[in-house]
Amino acid sequence: MPRRHLTFRQLETFATVARLGNFSRAAEALHLTQPAVSIQIRQITDIVGLPLFEQNGRSIRLTAAGRELLQTARELDDSWNRFESAVDALQGLKKGRLRVALVTTAKYFLPRMLGTFCRRYPDIDIELEVANRARIVERLRANEDDLYIMSFPPEELDVVATPFLDNPLVVVAPADYPLPAGPLTLDDIAHHPFLLRETGSGTRKAIDRHLNQNGQSLNIKMALGSNEAIRDLVATGMGLAILSRHVLGEHPEQDGLRILDIAGFPLRQTWSVVHLRQKVLPLPAKAFMDELLTVLGKA
Ligand code: PGA
Repeated sequence: MPRRHLTFRQLETFATVARLGNFSRAAEALHLTQPAVSIQIRQITDIVGLPLFEQNGRSIRLTAAGRELLQTARELDDSWNRFESAVDALQGLKKGRLRVALVTTAKYFLPRMLGTFCRRYPDIDIELEVANRARIVERLRANEDDLYIMSFPPEELDVVATPFLDNPLVVVAPADYPLPAGPLTLDDIAHHPFLLRETGSGTRKAIDRHLNQNGQSLNIKMALGSNEAIRDLVATGMGLAILSRHVLGEHPEQDGLRILDIAGFPLRQTWSVVHLRQKVLPLPAKAFMDELLTVLGKA
């Protein structure tokens, strides 16, 4: 069957005749003359090689081959519509703006993903906000961004939160820090000087929650708003810290650090991508979220 001669136009004419059961009404609906409709039906019949319609009194009805062709024409139409929507979606994605707000500790992995996204869609403008959890929750409440990355989605707001990656918190010490051998608990080291994140940080919230739940307290020597500052101060021997594993890089020992084996640690948490439930996510935000969940969700 020389199907490459078949056109969408002929299929549309055929489907209209089939629907209306009459050549002249189909011609009217298609703004064609009746001979033009007849010619197209003859051409398509020649291609198929079997009659498509049979006379039924004054009207016409489909033959078995005609019914098969009508079914195929409908499926082709659906496929083409799906294709058109996909193209519309891709065009919508070419331009636009993506606004993402991250808690400070997410900056160790998220910007790399944003970079890949940016290269793929160079005309999408990206606005990236990095701040501690308290500030990010304020932004979420005020609906200032599309997506938010954090460990503790706020319970007091109506949000959709999708977990996608582990965020373990570990106890870290200078590489050569003298500590008793053997299994240790947090109580064993609680009197050592600790450098912790500031109140308002998600990391600090997780630590405080753990201490409260276990009736423990630490000797907090310093509270700082920067993971890097804490990490570097620990490496110089200032004390111990509890930080996200993401802050430490592949080989902490090369940076003069040691992750301690403490009962109950690492504290298990999960990164979530969060947005307000009522938020209508723009196309770039949806695409970025899908990518995040696909790529990092498998990590
Ligand atoms: P933080 O948040 O960077 O404010 O400590 C981390 C988190 O949400 O886990």
